[in-house]
Amino acid sequence: MEKSILIIGACGQIGTELTLALRNTYGNESVIASDIREGNENLMNSGPFEILDATDYDALEEVIAYYSINEVYLMAAMLSATAEKFPMRAWNLNMNSLFNVLNLAKEKKIDKIFWPSSIAVFGPNTPKEDTSQSTIMEPSTVYGISKQSGERWCDYYFHKYGVDVRSIRYPGLISWKTMPGGGTTDYAVEIYHKALSEGTYTCFLKEDTELPMMFMEDAIKATLQLMDAEPENVKVRCSYNLSAMSFTPAQMANCIQKHIPDFKISYEPDFRQAIADSWPGSIDDQEARRDWGWKAEFDLEKTTKEMLENLAS
Ligand SMILES: NC(=O)c1ccc[n+]([C@@H]2O[C@H](COP(=O)([O-])OP(=O)(O)OC[C@H]3O[C@@H](n4cnc5c(N)ncnc54)[C@H](O)[C@@H]3O)[C@@H](O)[C@H]2O)c1
Repeated sequence: MEKSILIIGACGQIGTELTLALRNTYGNESVIASDIREGNENLMNSGPFEILDATDYDALEEVIAYYSINEVYLMAAMLSATAEKFPMRAWNLNMNSLFNVLNLAKEKKIDKIFWPSSIAVFGPNTPKEDTSQSTIMEPSTVYGISKQSGERWCDYYFHKYGVDVRSIRYPGLISWKTMPGGGTTDYAVEIYHKALSEGTYTCFLKEDTELPMMFMEDAIKATLQLMDAEPENVKVRCSYNLSAMSFTPAQMANCIQKHIPDFKISYEPDFRQAIADSWPGSIDDQEARRDWGWKAEFDLEKTTKEMLENLAS
């Protein structure tokens, strides 16, 4: 059967690049972008677009019927830093949008779902280094609680109703095409913009805060790879650990200084430090490598080169 794909929350940091990658692979007309706001020019001009609220079940059902959608990528969510400010709004958006999509699949109106989780499912009691797929979780943030609950519901809908839902625990994502949307790892994007425009950056995390990160190209590749995998190879139905690199703000600044020797960084930790402190420093992703052949391509050096070259041009 021909693919007809709907991306919900398509105008965000991941959705923008994911939409363009899917349009490249499956054709512009087969990939419908949607969001509650319009996106950048590339996204808006490359294929169909709908204004769509992920929490509105009837509106979702209508768009899915109109375009004969069989696959949904649910990217709409409230991210970690913003969710701490608006706990109930975050819970309502993050959970109701997921239930809507899971129930549409349960009702056989769509065949396959991608829903992203996050390293935020882990908490202060989780082992910090090489954090494994199954370990102590106990998230301490609003966002992390919503992602962990979401994972349990995905697993439940797969086992109870046979819903083909697939998920990745993304680390912090670094990209140059779209700005990040209110997460705790946003510094790792802002720093490149400021390094180029002002030659200095004030980081909202401490210099030695190690977090798992990934370049967007790797994250998109992983997403397409997981969605392409044969169902029997997708053995984890809550969400896969995924890893590429881990570094601290100081290490990132050193790497930037190799390209911009006068670049200066200072540190003024804010409320996001407590969120970062509750997350792992590095992630063990052996299940993703074993089950669907995952391998990262971008380390910190390669990411820095790509970011600086593309933002400067
Ligand atoms: N970016 C990261 O580093 C990262 C890391 C881990 C997990 N994730 C997860 O990946 C997904 C996408 O993240 P992102 O960074 O692209 O987020 P983002 O904030 O950049 O984009 C989210 C998009 O959803 C849209 N949106 C908000 N409310 C909506 C609603 N009610 N209906 C439809 N659209 C709505 C927003 O307008 C925005 O365009 C989220 O589930 C996020 O939790 C992201």
